[in-house]
Amino acid sequence: MSKKVLLLGGAGFIGFHILQKLAISGGYDLTIGDNFFRGKMDDQLRSLVNAHDVKVINADFTDPSAFDRLDSDYHQVYMLASVVGVEYTSKMPNELIRINTQLIMNTLEWLKQSACQKVLFTSTSECYAGAVEAFGYRVPTPEDVPLCIEDITHPRFTYAVTKMLGESGFMNYAKVYGFDCTIVRYHNVYGPRMGFKHVIPQVVKRFAGGEDPFRMFGHDQTRSFNFIDDAANGTIAAMETDTANNEIFHIGDMNAEITIEELLRYIGAIAGFSGTYVREGQHSGSVSRRCPDTSKAKAILGYEPETDWKTGVRKTVEWYLDYYRSGKDVYE
Ligand SMILES: NC(=O)c1ccc[n+]([C@@H]2O[C@H](COP(=O)([O-])OP(=O)(O)OC[C@H]3O[C@@H](n4cnc5c(N)ncnc54)[C@H](O)[C@@H]3O)[C@@H](O)[C@H]2O)c1
Repeated sequence: MSKKVLLLGGAGFIGFHILQKLAISGGYDLTIGDNFFRGKMDDQLRSLVNAHDVKVINADFTDPSAFDRLDSDYHQVYMLASVVGVEYTSKMPNELIRINTQLIMNTLEWLKQSACQKVLFTSTSECYAGAVEAFGYRVPTPEDVPLCIEDITHPRFTYAVTKMLGESGFMNYAKVYGFDCTIVRYHNVYGPRMGFKHVIPQVVKRFAGGEDPFRMFGHDQTRSFNFIDDAANGTIAAMETDTANNEIFHIGDMNAEITIEELLRYIGAIAGFSGTYVREGQHSGSVSRRCPDTSKAKAILGYEPETDWKTGVRKTVEWYLDYYRSGKDVYE
């Protein structure tokens, strides 16, 4: 019997790649729920949906009645729906709080009266950024780090606050209402079709637009970038592994911590940039260092990233350069 799987936010970046892997591996009856606020029904998603008979529920899940359109007996629910991206935190922090909170609470209230067996909630490294920044918590950072943000009034942290609510909400509803739950905290996932609100696509756009001198904001900050194939594999493993129930996992690449300057110069080289670089300060609210300790995911899930950052960044930059050169505007 095939497993019945729902991906809320399944048209988005990570959702699409999980959907693709599940569809290709076979043995899944797949449904996505999305309002296409960010994810788009582009050619790639359309052909996947058609080839694998994926059900698509186009609805805004901040409205509780949208859940009436779902079945009530999924084996697995991936909760990916969210407003994501630093730009939204500064442009509409109020809406981000409302939308993400309603998505979380509506999903929890629906789960409590459904017969769904397991849910996976997608959280973020931003939830513990303050523990590293303000209290010098260790990097690479493991899952038992206390969650903390530095400034509760700063719009940037609205996203992390909603994800903290989600972590606590999913874990505790699961205990009280008797379904299984796993949480993954992503760390700078990147790859083709990731939208246009993240650092790599924005940098490619600036190179493609001819910026020179090229400004390197936060040049000495570090990040560890996690290629989408690896992040999707880690997420599916967390869903499929019974010993992952009631556990939190850091999904990222602990061997890929690099400075922003290294990243920008590498992207510039791929884009054929021959101008000059200038170092600039960091964006407000952005952390100086980020790298996950993924030992727990390795031990319990067998998770180990396979794509080194240079290979993954090259694939991603080439996808975006093609996109910008093609003049398509499906995501703009
Ligand atoms: N990409 C990363 O590096 C990263 C890092 C940390 C956490 N995460 C989390 O992982 C999850 C997936 O991230 P992503 O990068 O794929 O983001 P994404 O924006 O590409 O996908 C989220 C999807 O949710 C949908 N959505 C938003 N509001 C909705 C609503 N009201 N009703 C129905 N659907 C709605 C969007 O249309 C989109 O397709 C998110 O929860 C995000 O917070 C991602």
